[in-house]
Amino acid sequence: MKIHAKANFNNATENTHIIGVFSADGKTKFSTTHDEFDDFLSTLHEQGVFQAKKAQVYFVRALDDASPNLLFAGLGKATECTGESLRSLGALLAKKLESEKISAAALDLSSFLIKGMDKKLNTEAVAQCLAEGALLSAYKFDHYQSEKKPFKLENVFFYSDKKGQNATKNAIAQAEICADSVFIARDLSNEPGSHLTPMELAKRTQQFAKKYHLSCKILDKKTLEKEKMGALLGVGQGSTNPPCLIVLEHKPKGAKKKIALVGKAVTFDSGGISIKPGQGMEDMKHDMSGGADVIAATILAARSKCKNHILCVVPAAENMPDGNAIVPSTVLKTRNGKTIEVQNTDAEGRLILSDALDYAQDTKLDAIVDVATLTGAVVLALSSVAAGLMGNDPATLEKFKKCAEETEERFVELPIFQEYIDDIKSKVADIKNIGGDRGAGSQKAGAFLKEFIKDGNKWIHLDIAGTAWSNGKSPYNPAYGATGHSVRTLAKFAMTL
Ligand code: BES
Ligand code: ZN
Ligand code: ZN
Repeated sequence: MKIHAKANFNNATENTHIIGVFSADGKTKFSTTHDEFDDFLSTLHEQGVFQAKKAQVYFVRALDDASPNLLFAGLGKATECTGESLRSLGALLAKKLESEKISAAALDLSSFLIKGMDKKLNTEAVAQCLAEGALLSAYKFDHYQSEKKPFKLENVFFYSDKKGQNATKNAIAQAEICADSVFIARDLSNEPGSHLTPMELAKRTQQFAKKYHLSCKILDKKTLEKEKMGALLGVGQGSTNPPCLIVLEHKPKGAKKKIALVGKAVTFDSGGISIKPGQGMEDMKHDMSGGADVIAATILAARSKCKNHILCVVPAAENMPDGNAIVPSTVLKTRNGKTIEVQNTDAEGRLILSDALDYAQDTKLDAIVDVATLTGAVVLALSSVAAGLMGNDPATLEKFKKCAEETEERFVELPIFQEYIDDIKSKVADIKNIGGDRGAGSQKAGAFLKEFIKDGNKWIHLDIAGTAWSNGKSPYNPAYGATGHSVRTLAKFAMTL
């Protein structure tokens, strides 16, 4: 699907017109800039079929070729309208057009703007949110299916007045960059474990780097040994596919700030010797979503002309049981010299992140963020509704939350209490990779990572185990498979740091 900017809706030649309608404001039942539909909308309202409620869409097929089909888009009350509701609406409109087999449609942007709406929602913002939702909803992962069903909705035209056309063009271009980047994260995450090995992820990242003019280097197994990355090597040693560390960089001239984005990429998490139960194990192909997200966010920020230096570090390994695999009781020595007693080989994400976090902090940073499908506990706490957010600096956490407010991706802050830090002390090594009891599993994983943050560094940890793949409840996320949750917020954070 392609979205284009055009001027003068009155001259639109597409056979389907999309009109925004706001719902009751106390005085009227609905309001729209298209008063030619007042009577018709009143009838629909009386019949109880369309009240212009938020996310309500209503399609009217024309009786003949002389007039266009109509798609009414419910916006709810002006005050209820948010970027997120527009994103969802954009997705619902695209889905409706697709199911009605429409190939081209004209959308009147001015009908999506009304007095009383949040001031931030100007023509550009409204266009961008609608376009983002529509584009994100059109994602398919059909690489391995013989019968492909391409999207039939080919073109949507966003009409504004002449003055608003540049803003609309910019908004659409930005939405395209955003959707492309989220698709990169989704595509990588959806690849089967046996196809996307650590080195294959490295190869694909190098291809992206070439395409988007970023620098990229791969630390192979030999180099990891030289770097003394004992934890990353340990997790990878049960697999025939060797681990590696992927380093992708966006370094604009004159950058004043530097941020590190570190993402867990366990290309398949079988649990290792502490093997997982069989049911649902196929989902563990997504256990590299943190890595995919930071790669995609770096691309999104770079393509959005981010002025800050981004160092993106992705430790990649496959967690497999094997005669050579680490076992519960193995002690690993990490790059910074700390020793870890492995009590459960399934708590492997924190192990590979420990070396990567240390590596990322070799130079001075203004912030470091790690992203990982780290714990089942966060899924129990927040389900797929929100990701877990932890950190060591209240001001940085606030900044991150502000970015998330704008992208409307959900994160819930969880505390790292001293008791959780105490609970990961080991009797054999410096620390152990699981807590003494099953409580607060996500925070204890956070406490573990905190051990690898250098004094004075501002750190944020995102646990995306619940949000990385879909339960099909959001209009612009696929019903099945990877979502790319966090990509938009990470890019925004890197840009506004
Ligand atoms: N990759 C999993 C976490 C996970 C679970 C992600 C469910 C998505 C959905 C991680 O490596 C893991 O297995 N964690 C263990 C840790 C435990 C052994 C302390 C967990 O959460 O069960
Ligand atoms: Zn695991
Ligand atoms: Zn894992």
